[in-house]
Amino acid sequence: MEGEEGDCLYNSFTSAMTLTKMRVPHVPRHYVLPPSKRPNPTLDITTTLPIVDLSSLHHASQRSLTLDKIKIACNEFGFFQVINHGIPLSIVNDALDAAAEFFNLPLEEKMPLLSDNVHAPVRYGTSLNHASDKVHFWRDFIKHYSHPLSDWIHLWPSNPPSYRDKMGNYAKAVQVLQKQLIEAILETLGLNLSNLQEDLEEGNQLMTINCYPACPEPDLTLGMPPHSDYGTLTILLRSGPGLQILDNKKNWLSVPLVEGALMVQLGDQIEVMSNGRYKSVVHQVTVREENRRLSIASIHSLPLNKKIGPAAELVDEQHPESYKEFSFRDFLDFISSNNIADGRFIDSIKKTA
Ligand code: OGA
Ligand code: NI
Repeated sequence: MEGEEGDCLYNSFTSAMTLTKMRVPHVPRHYVLPPSKRPNPTLDITTTLPIVDLSSLHHASQRSLTLDKIKIACNEFGFFQVINHGIPLSIVNDALDAAAEFFNLPLEEKMPLLSDNVHAPVRYGTSLNHASDKVHFWRDFIKHYSHPLSDWIHLWPSNPPSYRDKMGNYAKAVQVLQKQLIEAILETLGLNLSNLQEDLEEGNQLMTINCYPACPEPDLTLGMPPHSDYGTLTILLRSGPGLQILDNKKNWLSVPLVEGALMVQLGDQIEVMSNGRYKSVVHQVTVREENRRLSIASIHSLPLNKKIGPAAELVDEQHPESYKEFSFRDFLDFISSNNIADGRFIDSIKKTA
């Protein structure tokens, strides 16, 4: 039985990289989005998106100024870029190299990791869920749990041989950075950190390593559809342009490349904890004809089974509880039977007044 399902998954699988390697002149029909959902190049509005210099987060006298900047960015966009974040360039470049080498492997090397089970701790795939997607997205990915590293690293790809070392170093560095950022963000909400310390330590880190190969018709498709991430925050590293975020006037803004910067995106868990003071950022990925693009999204969340609801400090008569509580596991259960291209998870837990 299991063998049959496995065969079916295997036989129906075509990675985006395979299509690019075959030099298909057109994207196959099942990648073509309806016109209203295609990327709109003429609507590419240039707004200045916030950049926060984190070097001043550690200086007592400048911390509050930096927190103010973070607060404004969270309010306005649920998004900012960080510079002077403390992760050495060599660690960042090594992680991107490991990603490139992994995706360059022959398909047979990657297939043993293929899985459409969203609960699997390591899985390779394409699109969102190629077995059930009605429209496919021009992306291949590998996802793996990453914290604490010693619980998971032995399950990560063993090929290329340097993958575990290089990706592991980046995973550890990004975990340190996210802790500083989440503490800062919770402080801007006036929340008491001591209640949350243990959950933050034991939180989940899911790294999604994405490969968006060169695409023959980038105007007809997307690398990822509009969505928000489920966690507290996502730290994103990317090799080139293609990320767009939705502003509060419903315009898609292309995120400019800033040398050495990492992107910080608020996720649904922060929206819920903040009782809607901050919103998770809706984002999508466009693809390009000439170059492939790699990205590493490190999605941080509270522990798998921890239920998260609006913080008591942020609920009062003027601000009634606006969300039902949820855990990361609830989110995984949701995506195992719903497609995020059809509707957002967070809308399913909003309370109607
Ligand atoms: C994601 C994501 C953005 C990117 O993996 O959730 O939004 O630029 N990635 O690849
Ligand atoms: Ni995302």
